[in-house]
Amino acid sequence: MASYLVTGGAGFIGSHLATELIRRGHRVRVADSLITGKRHNLDHISAVEFLEGDLADASFAQRAAEGMEYVLHQAAIPSVPRSVKDPLTSNRANIDATLSILVAARDAGVKRFVYAGSSSAYGNTPTLPKREDMPTNPLSPYALQKLVAEQYCQMFTRLYGFETVTTRYFNVFGPRQDPGSPYSGVISLFSTALLRGRQPVIYGDGEQTRDFTYVANVVDGVLRACEAQTQVAGEVINVATAGRISLNELLGVMNAIVGTNLQPIYKEERAGDVKDSQADISKAKALLGYTPIVGLEEGLRHTIEWCRPSPPAPTGR
Ligand code: UD1
Repeated sequence: MASYLVTGGAGFIGSHLATELIRRGHRVRVADSLITGKRHNLDHISAVEFLEGDLADASFAQRAAEGMEYVLHQAAIPSVPRSVKDPLTSNRANIDATLSILVAARDAGVKRFVYAGSSSAYGNTPTLPKREDMPTNPLSPYALQKLVAEQYCQMFTRLYGFETVTTRYFNVFGPRQDPGSPYSGVISLFSTALLRGRQPVIYGDGEQTRDFTYVANVVDGVLRACEAQTQVAGEVINVATAGRISLNELLGVMNAIVGTNLQPIYKEERAGDVKDSQADISKAKALLGYTPIVGLEEGLRHTIEWCRPSPPAPTGR
């Protein structure tokens, strides 16, 4: 049994990590500000220790890291358009809090720190798929913040010998991804629109592509990065499926699963949007033995099932 701090553990990806760690018999502490996370995302795992607070606050970060062997740093304000609208708030959550928990984890003697990086760091690359050795080109405050935080992690490995690994996620989706905000991930928004018989919105012409990655694959990749005996300190590793699909095609697949034929409403392209995204995952395979376990369509089915409104409770008659 090992001890894990999951920052952002009441959020979408963090709550899946916490669930799997508890299932494997580990001790789990969650630190979450509840700005985007939800306490009820952890209702099904009572064994978790929960701390509410802001990791940018050094004393809270110290309390969170104390006594932990591993830190899975998932806490972030994770939206491109939200960062374009309000770069200051997302900078505090995405950079200041990362630096603060890095210092606290280093000082607490944490063995390894796994950071949730983002594929947005690549921006528009001249070729696909995107490899970790390609130059980065952030197009939004969010992308820049995730890249700076990732570089802080690498610097902590170089300067202090503190083991950090960045797993760069590509458009993660699945149950518990909040569909309730205009900043939500596109699959959660499409799912709720189709299930309610509403037309989904597509920003741009819908020909942009993404490497949509079901959350179970990310959980597997992150825990492999934590446990890897290979030389991973200071590395940046893509975690994705290595496929890509356009939003127009995605909507077609989702319409087929739900049994609808709802056409999109096209709106102006979003500022800071990347055109195409697809990962090369050979580094994850080589260093972590990672290979995707759940494909797009199966992941979409699970996600749509989760988004389905539950039937009304029986009236007792
Ligand atoms: C980006 C990052 C991803 C990061 C995520 C956090 C890239 C390639 N990926 O995802 O690593 O974790 O931010 O939020 O930069 N869209 C619609 N209709 C909608 C909502 C979105 O058409 O209702 C479009 C967006 O304009 C975009 C695509 O769908 O082209 C995906 O959007 P979204 O799910 O928000 O994620 P990204 O911005 O790609």
